[in-house]
Amino acid sequence: MEGVISTSQIKDITRLERTGAHSHIKGLGLDDKLQITPGSGGMVGQVKARKAAGVILKMIKQGKIAGRAILMAGAPGTGKTAIAMALAQELGNDVPFTTISASEVYSLEISKTEVLTQAFRRSIGIRIKEETELIEGEVVEVQIDRNVTGIGPKVGKLTLKTTDMETIYDLGTKMIDGLNKEKVIAGDVIQIDKATGRITKLGRSFSRARDFDATGSEVKFVSCPEGELQVRKEIVHTVSLHEIDVINSRQQGFLALFSGDTGEIKPEVRDQINMKVAEWREEGKATIVPGVLFIDEIHMLDMECYSFLNRALESNLAPVVIMASNRGLSNIRGTNYKSPHGMPIDLLDRLSIISTMSYSQDEIEQILKIRAIEEEVDLSADACMILTKVAMETSLRYAINLISTGYLVAQKRKSNVVSVEDIKRVYSLFLDEKRSVQYLQEYQAEFMFNTPLNAQADDNNMVLDS
Ligand SMILES: Nc1ncnc2c1ncn2[C@@H]1O[C@H](COP(=O)(O)OP(=O)(O)OP(=O)(O)O)[C@@H](O)[C@H]1O
Ligand SMILES: [Mg+2]
Repeated sequence: MEGVISTSQIKDITRLERTGAHSHIKGLGLDDKLQITPGSGGMVGQVKARKAAGVILKMIKQGKIAGRAILMAGAPGTGKTAIAMALAQELGNDVPFTTISASEVYSLEISKTEVLTQAFRRSIGIRIKEETELIEGEVVEVQIDRNVTGIGPKVGKLTLKTTDMETIYDLGTKMIDGLNKEKVIAGDVIQIDKATGRITKLGRSFSRARDFDATGSEVKFVSCPEGELQVRKEIVHTVSLHEIDVINSRQQGFLALFSGDTGEIKPEVRDQINMKVAEWREEGKATIVPGVLFIDEIHMLDMECYSFLNRALESNLAPVVIMASNRGLSNIRGTNYKSPHGMPIDLLDRLSIISTMSYSQDEIEQILKIRAIEEEVDLSADACMILTKVAMETSLRYAINLISTGYLVAQKRKSNVVSVEDIKRVYSLFLDEKRSVQYLQEYQAEFMFNTPLNAQADDNNMVLDS
């Protein structure tokens, strides 16, 4: 009976939720006055950097400043990406947040500057206001006249009322079909879009609340509208500049938004759109919502990209750009120049730099506990202590990886709690970076193309001295 899946199996599959490296991060964990509120947001320690991120958040929310750039610099595993993710969670749905890794700019199909431009424009939202005319009222009566033969156009009458007035509207075939589709009956409060004729049911009128209960629990009761039957309503959409670009740049229009295959967008198209948006802004039809562009591993960019950034940051349609790097004094990609964080000095000069510090033992323990909860793993107190020690000696990431592997080992011996033994077992199964290097050194003769470590130490200045 292969290929037949029992329902219990299906349930197991749908219940499976994936946990990413930062899924325990829910926010910065700051209050209005930028003070740390312990235990909220899933973040631990790193107080200065979080507060700095809080200031940036306020700046972004005010939406006044364009083209600021921030660099988060710190050793690997000190929470740079985590803080950026926390910031994204705090921004809310309306403010665009784009995240790219600097290595994404190298593509065969489109140029580096085009990738960066698209990322910039994805991070700028345009809030567009539209006014529509609606008819809103409670249905008093729907009357549909049918031809005896059943053929020919349908006609009818719809009586709508508000608390102040009542009007009878003539109905054509299209409207009758619309009413039938929505199953509109007397006592419903409905909304009709005058431009498109679309009918929306808002709910049932309170005056019908005592109608004998044939109504299901999902029925919403609303009050009968007041005032005029015809109302003007403002509808607000937020789209990104990039979306407007794509829709206007190609024959297939918005479909390219889904495939992501947008190709290069002509500068003329962008110029026109910028002009149009400026026009809308003057007429009060649209407002600009500057968002955030997060470029992780910024040291992967090269000279051309850096000089493009210098220029792009000065445009008045630039988002707040946050960059992260774990490099110390190192080569700028593609050159022999050494520079702090592997970035040219002129760009560094434009940035506000936030540095992230290494964690204390307490903080590491807390992070590991939060991760264990997120991964739904029960760690015994001893195991947690040992894991903290491991993290201090190796790295936080390595220790985090041992949580779920440790759980698998615990399950193998039919226990739901991860004990010290399980941690020891996975610690011996999986090497951390230091032990791996040691192993390489011991057995170097057996590997191919091996260069002794001290020979390459000079240009391997990758990571900040902590
Ligand atoms: N303050 C913190 N509170 C909670 N979790 C944290 C904190 N800092 C880091 N983490 C978690 O530790 C792990 C490593 O952190 P992260 O990926 O942010 O490091 P990073 O600074 O971006 O390192 P790299 O330079 O290697 O990219 C992640 O799973 C992250 O969610
Ligand atoms: Mg990172």
